[in-house]
Amino acid sequence: MTDPRPGSWWRDAVIYQVYPRSFADSDGDGVGDIDGIRARLGHLSALGVDAIWMSPWYPSPMADAGYDVADFRDIDPAFGTLAKAEALIAEAHAAGIRTIVDIVPNHVSSEHVWFKKALADPRAPERELFWFHPGRGENGDEMPTDWVGEFGGTTWTRTTNPDGTPGDWYLHLFTPEQPDLNWDHPRVRAEFEDILRFWFDRGVDGIRIDSAALLFKDRALPPVVEGERHPFHDLDEVHEVYRAWRRVSEGYPDRALIGEVWMPEVERFANYLRPDELHAAFNFDFLGCAWDAALMRACIDRTLDAHRAVGAPATWVLSNHDVTRHVTRYGRTTTTFSFENNLDGTPVDLELGTRRARAAALLSLSLPGATYVYQGEELGLWENENIPVERMQDPMYARRGHSRDGCRVPLPWSGDEPPFGFSTTQPWLPQPPEWKDRTVQAQTGDPSSMLELYRSAIAARKAEPGLHGPDFAWLDAGAGVLAYRRGPQFACVLNLSPEAVELPAHQSVLLPSSQLEGTLLPPDSAVWLRLAT
Ligand code: NOJ
Repeated sequence: MTDPRPGSWWRDAVIYQVYPRSFADSDGDGVGDIDGIRARLGHLSALGVDAIWMSPWYPSPMADAGYDVADFRDIDPAFGTLAKAEALIAEAHAAGIRTIVDIVPNHVSSEHVWFKKALADPRAPERELFWFHPGRGENGDEMPTDWVGEFGGTTWTRTTNPDGTPGDWYLHLFTPEQPDLNWDHPRVRAEFEDILRFWFDRGVDGIRIDSAALLFKDRALPPVVEGERHPFHDLDEVHEVYRAWRRVSEGYPDRALIGEVWMPEVERFANYLRPDELHAAFNFDFLGCAWDAALMRACIDRTLDAHRAVGAPATWVLSNHDVTRHVTRYGRTTTTFSFENNLDGTPVDLELGTRRARAAALLSLSLPGATYVYQGEELGLWENENIPVERMQDPMYARRGHSRDGCRVPLPWSGDEPPFGFSTTQPWLPQPPEWKDRTVQAQTGDPSSMLELYRSAIAARKAEPGLHGPDFAWLDAGAGVLAYRRGPQFACVLNLSPEAVELPAHQSVLLPSSQLEGTLLPPDSAVWLRLAT
């Protein structure tokens, strides 16, 4: 594979998230798999992405769609085999596409061999690898803390002793099937460093780190008190782990560590990106930002300032497998996203959402740093809000009344009706029949389609010298309009106001997200311009 700037690909890559279960099904069981990804690499090449990140594909009871990992060194039979994963990595490389795997260090599956041993025998050494704790109250029948889990709900489950009596409790920040690991234990640290090497040795170019800020817990188990240090979010000890991981990654050429770090304080977020820690982290501030010029501009400034301070590249993320798809978000009256403020079922104007999503694509693909594309966003897919409760699989639904299944629906590839070429049978989650206009086949060659917009934008980004490197400057623009220059000759203008606005002086139009009205940029649109020198 040729790389013009070895050693820094992750700084300005376009990284496509593959959700293996929903990408393409090769064996007709309704669930996507590795052979499905291999068969569809052509789509990713045509899109022009630099790398793919696969959500977990390891053996798992699937209590949390694979984020409950039973064995980090193998592949779940539903997805294929290790040999198939290796073949995918090699074939992607041959197509010029790097690969990133998803590692989940905060917890394992309750079916992981360590936890099974720990549960079977309270004296087993594996007990120390988790958070077993006696309960409170006279008979120990109250949980050790009242901590609320990351999905909502409680965080402790009581065990039963071998003699049948009630035993200790164990901690799980997510579901009971995802016991938290004890990162104070050297065996846990050694194990994960070895897992990193396992995948780096198989040629993967990066690691996405799940729940990266949650690993350490305050041993005193204090309550969560507003304004005080949180007992399990962002404890300082975590940085030592990522320094060690960085050292592991540097034993290989061009490997990147990318953290899932949800953090309201941008300075604390940036701590994860210091030069000896992670290479990049997902920008959820941007993802959750309202469709509003002033707020968006403030978010971009905040992001660039925080990353500049630590010399890390920013990332631009609009969607992923956990959040409401942005076509839907941007079509609502409230365009922000947060797990706490559930907007499910509130009115959506999909036409408006799509129009804004097109503009957002040009925004996210022209800001300095790396851009993430979640599978299906290049097709303009919206959230499926009509999944019957009995078909929902997300464990968050029972705890928080919000299901992430709606953004995880299998991709529509071709044809006029479900399963739209995804499979030969009914997919694991239902696809909206209205997606017949959003298949890859239907959009290919249609210049007005979302897919062709993404293809053109990614190709133009590659070819545009101004879009590589950190150069960025705001241009004067009216209220409700964002305009910036990248390099001497490239500009992006985004109109978030309700009126069409005059374009700034330019030499030519490179790419508009919607039809220009002469020299006017309509509302909820963006355009890439070539500036005169
Ligand atoms: C974040 C992942 O993105 C999400 O899907 C998962 O449920 C949690 N971490 C727990 O692993």
